[in-house]
Amino acid sequence: MTTALSPARAAEPAPADDPAGTPGVGGPSLAAARPDPDDLDPRRALREVARWQSGDRDAARFPYRAVLGHYRAVGKNAVGEEVLTALRAVEPAPAQAAEPAARLLGDWLPQVVDGRQGDYDSYLGSPVYASLTEAGACTQEVLTALLADVVEIESATLADVPAGLARTRAALRALTAVAGLPAAYGTGAAPGAADEVADLVRAAAEAVAAARDAVPAGVLRAVELTLTPTTRSHDEQMFIRVIQIFEAVFSAVGRAVQMATEAVAAGQTDLARGLLAGATRQVAGTSGVFRVLTTMPKDAFAVIRANTDGRSAVQSRSYRTVERSCPTLHLTVQRGDLPADGLRSAMRELDTAWCAMKRTHWGITVKIIGAVRGTGGTAGAAYLREAAEARLFPALD
Ligand code: HEM
Repeated sequence: MTTALSPARAAEPAPADDPAGTPGVGGPSLAAARPDPDDLDPRRALREVARWQSGDRDAARFPYRAVLGHYRAVGKNAVGEEVLTALRAVEPAPAQAAEPAARLLGDWLPQVVDGRQGDYDSYLGSPVYASLTEAGACTQEVLTALLADVVEIESATLADVPAGLARTRAALRALTAVAGLPAAYGTGAAPGAADEVADLVRAAAEAVAAARDAVPAGVLRAVELTLTPTTRSHDEQMFIRVIQIFEAVFSAVGRAVQMATEAVAAGQTDLARGLLAGATRQVAGTSGVFRVLTTMPKDAFAVIRANTDGRSAVQSRSYRTVERSCPTLHLTVQRGDLPADGLRSAMRELDTAWCAMKRTHWGITVKIIGAVRGTGGTAGAAYLREAAEARLFPALD
């Protein structure tokens, strides 16, 4: 924090969601620290939702901005009952039920009506992403939009909080890799350069613009709507985006394993091998995203943890789908009378990448929360260390 603290308070870091702090890593978000006064007060959101309800209830004109403005300025856990009640009554006009805008609204609402009782799915906006996939959005587009948002959010606070340099660089490198942008974007200025911050902010803005150009509007819109941190912490925004990125990867890997199983059953081993190799690349690509996550300050995460009890990723269905689909794939390979050497090595590579990802997650957990229990009710790091040893294809020789 770079705020002037009194000598008596200087030794204690300000709470990460204290809106009086300097926005950026370890402090509040920009939306909390420099809010539009109308966003702090629930009345604008209430007024706009009431106007929408009493009008033609056209989902395409739902006042997302007013609602999200309020949520982001105060933090979801501080949103009052009146707003929650108004949102719980929201329903698009029946004639529009089949339209994409009505579907988006229906998918989005669980994320804002869950109050403090939400789960992992409503934390990250799972239904919105499930519909995107169903509508044909590709994983690379979703990852690009999510990473572009991380880069934008992080670079917006760099001038005041240089502690964000490492995170912005890591996010920019991850974006460059996923979006297939020229490597030059990923470098920004060299550490220690005179205009380090200005150069990085410029590189970030160019990369974000180039990345978003390649992403369909529907994907950008979904990403824009699915950021509702429970606190006013800057770091929770990054945390939610990172979770959404991993979820997109888990879903893609689960689909690849299931399609590979069908391909093996149909005797198409080359197709199955290609699908598994693609899944392995996706899993291996998470190492760049972990580098963003490791910039999470312990104190900031303690505040996030305290506000997200019961929303642990241990509930992730896409993660379990990967684990549960692999034995079926292995069984199908064993039953098929196929030349499966290449396939077995593709399975082994996916297994190795998956276990490496789990070990990294365990290492980060140890660093950030130590030995305390998880928000999902497990023993925490000790549980993860054991889980990291569980292989996707344990019977593969
Ligand atoms: C600060 C970063 C993180 C910490 C400290 C952390 C901590 C934990 C802990 C303690 C658990 C055990 C379950 C529980 O009781 O909650 C867990 C499980 C899990 N976490 Fe994280 N986590 C972090 C980030 C992430 C991210 C970004 C993802 C991406 C989705 C993720 C995915 C998972 C999954 C899938 C599980 C279930 C693992 C299993 O059951 O094998 N975690 N995490």
